[in-house]
Amino acid sequence: MVQRLEGRVAVVTGGGSGIGLATVRRFASEGAKVVVADVDPNAGKAAADEVGGLFVQVDVTDEEQVKALFQTTVDTYGKLDIAFNNAGISPPDDDSILTTGIEAWERVQKVNLTSVYLCCKYAIPHMQANGKGSIINTASFVATMGAATSQISYTASKGGVLAMSRELGVQFAREGIRVNALSPGPVNTPLLQELFAKDPERAARRLVHVPLGRFAEPEEIAAAVAFLASDDSSFMTASNFLVDGGIAGAYVTPL
Ligand SMILES: NC(=O)c1ccc[n+]([C@@H]2O[C@H](COP(=O)([O-])OP(=O)(O)OC[C@H]3O[C@@H](n4cnc5c(N)ncnc54)[C@H](O)[C@@H]3O)[C@@H](O)[C@H]2O)c1
Repeated sequence: MVQRLEGRVAVVTGGGSGIGLATVRRFASEGAKVVVADVDPNAGKAAADEVGGLFVQVDVTDEEQVKALFQTTVDTYGKLDIAFNNAGISPPDDDSILTTGIEAWERVQKVNLTSVYLCCKYAIPHMQANGKGSIINTASFVATMGAATSQISYTASKGGVLAMSRELGVQFAREGIRVNALSPGPVNTPLLQELFAKDPERAARRLVHVPLGRFAEPEEIAAAVAFLASDDSSFMTASNFLVDGGIAGAYVTPL
């Protein structure tokens, strides 16, 4: 494996599972020191132990805990180079606007959008002190495409992540801090499996729109995150980086 992240210090939120876990492994294999931040202590610690990194138990909706996460990172490893703000939820009670209650709406907004605001707010000052940094915020292809199989708060939250990432990328560009939104298509992770196990017809309706004809594997998304984290993407900021199997470019798909 190329060592593009040798000597870099990275924080991965939601690092205990799915895209986050695959990215923890990928970052470590490219030479980074990795801090795994997750609300789940078992999965998070297992991921950190696997790569010889540090586990910090964090609820990304809690301002004090997020602030402490980045401070602990710098206290432990001396600096912060990369923040992959990735933790997110997609609960079944977030559905059509007609049936989604305000409690579900607000819960999803907090975990998916407010958390990214908090993580950027407390990561950026450490990157300013370091004179550079790369932030990758996990949005989704639904920030770009509308779906008739709605998850209204999820979609709105990811639109917010995309817009916020663009603005931060512009604001901090001249300080050497790059901020990009990563927009995965559907990925074969517990988050998606849980949603579609309850409703296979919904999974089938979505797959038909993916030109590549399958869901992504988490490792394919992690490869894109590592690119955005590394200097290979040094001229990219404020972008909507779609890794979606071609969904956003499709009108009709092959049979
Ligand atoms: N799976 C997909 O198809 C897909 C597609 C596009 C975007 N995404 C986005 O990718 C990100 C990761 O999704 P995934 O599929 O890997 O999910 P996942 O459920 O496999 O993993 C999410 C991780 O986040 C952690 N987490 C949840 N709430 C948290 C909180 N409040 N504080 C700290 N950690 C918390 C969980 O414990 C878990 O380890 C999410 O933002 C998701 O919206 C996923």
